Formats: sequence, structure tokens, C-alpha cells
Amino acid sequence: MTTGSLPLLGPRLRAILRRRSYRSFRPDAPPADAVRALRAAATTAPSVGGRRSGRVVVLDDPDVVGRLPRAVMGGLVGKINPWLLKSHPPLFLLAVGDSAAGLRDGDRHWYNVDAALAGQLVVLEAAGRGLGSCWVAGFHERSVTAVAGLRDGERPLAVIPVGYPAVGPDSGGSWVGRAWDAAAQRLVSARRKPLERLAYRGRFGVPFMPHEVPWAERGVGQGDETPWPGLGPLRPTPAFDGRPVTEPQLAVLLECARWAPSAENSQIARHVVLEGREAVAALTAAAFPGTALEREALPPLALACLAAPFPVTARTREQPFFLIDVPIAVANLLVAAAELGLGWQVAFRFDHRAVAAHLGVPDDHRVVALVGLGTPVDGPHDGPPPAPSQLHPPE
Ligand SMILES: Cc1cc2nc3c(=O)[nH]c(=O)nc-3n(C[C@H](O)[C@H](O)[C@H](O)COP(=O)(O)O)c2cc1C
Repeated sequence: MTTGSLPLLGPRLRAILRRRSYRSFRPDAPPADAVRALRAAATTAPSVGGRRSGRVVVLDDPDVVGRLPRAVMGGLVGKINPWLLKSHPPLFLLAVGDSAAGLRDGDRHWYNVDAALAGQLVVLEAAGRGLGSCWVAGFHERSVTAVAGLRDGERPLAVIPVGYPAVGPDSGGSWVGRAWDAAAQRLVSARRKPLERLAYRGRFGVPFMPHEVPWAERGVGQGDETPWPGLGPLRPTPAFDGRPVTEPQLAVLLECARWAPSAENSQIARHVVLEGREAVAALTAAAFPGTALEREALPPLALACLAAPFPVTARTREQPFFLIDVPIAVANLLVAAAELGLGWQVAFRFDHRAVAAHLGVPDDHRVVALVGLGTPVDGPHDGPPPAPSQLHPPE
């Protein structure tokens, strides 16, 4: 463990911490450059194996936008979101996956990961620009697919309305939408679990007690008000220079994961923190048996990201929430790491059972991702091969 001072809240950290779900929008549409930035964030998202099995579509055609709320509400499951009829978003994001040809291992369809990561990156780009959003997984799939005109074999996994949040009676939003928003915030999203229930040190079950929790409340704390610079491309680092991640940086990273949105605010994402190259090497050996790894190339810190059980386990059979909610939290982690000047590598495809056994993870939890973090080596790297990173930026 190393100490250091608390980092200032840069614009991307502020966007992560201040983002919250909005379900009622002002009538004014975002400017064209904002819509372009959302599209760019969607297309620069990294994907598992560089395969782009999942993607995010930005829908701003007024005809499609006008028809989507009723499409969402079709069927039984969509009826849980009646507020959408009164929320009047100027645009929608659709997180979609290639069910037919996307990368998959057994029943793990990696399109969920690609689309969840891309979706959260666009949500953060929107938040940085003052735009509100709300992930919606309760919708009628056939109607949404038809209205959005998806490609053959593609399936939507989330619909995300986006617009300037309607806050207060003079905002131009409907009172139904604003009342729904206020109730959801008070009854659902306000019940955030404390960090020590979500993160563990060294092994599952050992609570991560940060020496200092920087922000117990959402989005408050110190920080400048630098204008939004844009999310920027998210690229894995080829190598780490071995300098440790400081304790305050670690606390900030985990706090950013904690504030990620999750279905029904279930907060199923859990993180086991492994500190030091010895611990990371042992984890890596369990995850990638038979792979020769250069110890010098390993990061000084790794997080094993898990999913805790929750009664609502899946949107559909091939769209389990552990492959959506945990990657959303990982997206927050990666954006926060980049803002803190840290490099990262992420793997989703490894021996999940061996990692669970290695970390003492109970049978009812699932291991989802391994995130390596540390100071990136400057300039081109011609040393030993990098640790396995399966999250690739687009070519
Ligand atoms: C995958 C996913 C699906 C969600 N589905 C819905 C939904 O169908 N209806 C809804 O009102 N909110 C939905 N939400 C929003 C959550 O309720 C919200 O993120 C959670 O309560 C935390 O609040 P916050 O986003 O304001 O931090 C969903 C969130 C996620 C990540």
C-alpha cells in the first residue's frame, strides 16, 4: 500500500460521479456537435478481441424517436416504463449485439460486454456535456428492433433516452416524468451500498477499507470546473513501468465503479483488489494456465471484477445482467484510470472457475473481468510481450 494526496476531480471524474439517471427531458434538442460527439464516442469504444460484436446506435431521426416510446412499451415487460411516454427525449441510444455472428464462448455472448462498454462511454460523453440519460432494459424487443431497423441477427439489450434533464417546474418537462424521476431517485437509486460491501482486498470477503473515502456523496468534493474536453479514445497500454497505484487513486477508482448505473440499482459489481506484482502474477497464472508471462510486463495492481447474485438475473437468456452491469462499472473504471494518468488492460476471456477458486469467490458469484492498472510506459514498447489484454480499440 502506498500513500499520496487525493487527486483533484478532473472533468471526466466529475462526469462519472455526477451522472445519474434522468427520465424527463427539456424539449430543446442537443446541438449538432454534441450529437456528433456521441456518435464518435460510440464508434471509438473498445471491444472484446477487437471483434465489435456489440455496438451503440445513436437514433435522432424525429420519426424513429417519436415511435420508440410506444415500441418500448409494447408487450408485458415494457409496461414497467410508462414514464417514457411522457419523457420526450430528443434522441435515443440503442445498445445492440450481433447474436448471429458475434464472438461468444458457450453461453457468454460477448456482444453484451461490447455494447455495455460502448453504451456507458456514450452516457459519460453525454453527461460531460450536461445531457441526461437513463439505461432501460425493460422493453419489447420485437417492436424496438422493427422501429430501429436493426440488421439481421442483431438484438437490442438496452434503450437509452438522452436529452437535457428537466429539473424543476419551469424546465418544460412533464410533471409525470419529473415525479417519476424524483420517486425513482428517492426509492431506488439513493440506496447506494458502501464501498466496503462492494470491494475486497486480496481475497473475496476481506472488506476494502479505504484509508480515505474521497466522496461519500455523489459528485461532491473538490475539483476545478475545466470545460468538458471530450472523453477521448480509450486505449489499453502495451506495458506498465512498475510504479504502484497509490491508495487515494485506488479509492477514487473504486468510488467511480460504485456510482455506475445498474439494473434496479442492484449494484451487483464487486471488485477484489490484488496489489503488487507477486499477487498479480499468481492471479494471472490462475486465469491463463499454460501461458508464459513476463513478470516485468505485469501491472502492479489488478482488479478481479465479479457479479453478485440478484433475483432479476437476465433481460433475456443470452443477455444476463452480469455481462451488462459489470462491464458498465468497468467502463467507469477505465475512464477514471485514464483521467488519473493510469494505463489499463482488460481481459474477459480466461479461466473464470480457476480465478474464483484462487480468490475464494463463492459459487453463487460470477467472475467477469480482470483489469490491470498501473503507470503506462512512455513511448513505443519493445520489451517483453504485454500481459493479455483482450479489450482492443477499433482498428
Ligand atoms: C442495464 C440497466 C437497465 C436498467 N433498466 C431500467 C429500466 O428499465 N427502467 C428504469 O426506469 N431504469 C432502469 N435503469 C436505471 C437504474 O434504475 C439506475 O441506474 C439505478 O437506479 C441507479 O441510479 P442512477 O443511474 O441514478 O445512479 C437501468 C439501468 C441499467 C444499468
